[in-house]
Amino acid sequence: MKTILIKCGGSVIDQLSEGFFSSIKKLQHDGFHIIFVHGGGPDINEMLDLLSVKAEFHNGLRKTTEEALAVVEMVLSGKTNRKLVDLLRKNDLYAVGINGTDDNCLQASMIDEENLGYVGNVEEVNNKLIIRLLEEGYIPVLTPLGITEDGIKLNINADYAASAVAKSLKVEQCLFITDVDGIMIDGEVASLIGKEEVLQYIEEGQITGGMVPKVTSALAAIDSGLNSAMIVSGKKEFYSAEIWNGTKIVANERLYK
Ligand SMILES: Nc1ncnc2c1ncn2[C@@H]1O[C@H](COP(=O)(O)OP(=O)(O)OP(=O)(O)O)[C@@H](O)[C@H]1O
Ligand SMILES: [Mg+2]
Repeated sequence: MKTILIKCGGSVIDQLSEGFFSSIKKLQHDGFHIIFVHGGGPDINEMLDLLSVKAEFHNGLRKTTEEALAVVEMVLSGKTNRKLVDLLRKNDLYAVGINGTDDNCLQASMIDEENLGYVGNVEEVNNKLIIRLLEEGYIPVLTPLGITEDGIKLNINADYAASAVAKSLKVEQCLFITDVDGIMIDGEVASLIGKEEVLQYIEEGQITGGMVPKVTSALAAIDSGLNSAMIVSGKKEFYSAEIWNGTKIVANERLYK
């Protein structure tokens, strides 16, 4: 089974273009099965503010308290996942939403309880349910929540969840859909970047903020055997006639030039 994993950023779900959905149809037409993992930062922050959940910060990072986690689950599963599934279905794409905790799909452990709270790393992906759905022709849409061996639910960075799932499914391609055209370097979109360059750009401060977990996850996917991963815009067509638009991240760019 040839599969492509698409991580869709929460920041771009409301701006997905017709070209985005037609790109997915073209991929399906070319024989690929599709799975989504979605983020949801903006929806979560909006609801935490609305409900006046007190924010606790450690070293600039927001701590996910038990109270915040309840909001995270409500928003990610109840709002963001629904929004993406509904959009896909409206575009005649047969999506089914599932939670990362369903069937212990994303088995996780706490990273740092004291500083980060209920935030996890994926330890293992139990992919049986996902594979069943893919084989039936559905597009699973996975919410990045994990569950510990003791049954505690954890919030997981969607970019990291995506690379863990990509690795477990041995996908052909891993796409990070976001609100920019790709990785911008010196004001221009880079079409091809190697691992060494990515690390250098992070150090130089050319790759910052939300782009850092994304490229780190792309590199993790490549380390696990994927040929390349891509950062692409959800506002445009990203695939047509076997040509991809965006930034391609590879282990060694010199082999491609
Ligand atoms: N070199 C860079 N090139 C492009 N974008 C960059 C770069 N460095 C930092 N960024 C920022 O990274 C952002 C994308 O990451 P962000 O976490 O905001 O979105 P997302 O992961 O798609 O959505 P979400 O986190 O809601 O799931 C861009 O909007 C941009 O502001
Ligand atoms: Mg992000």
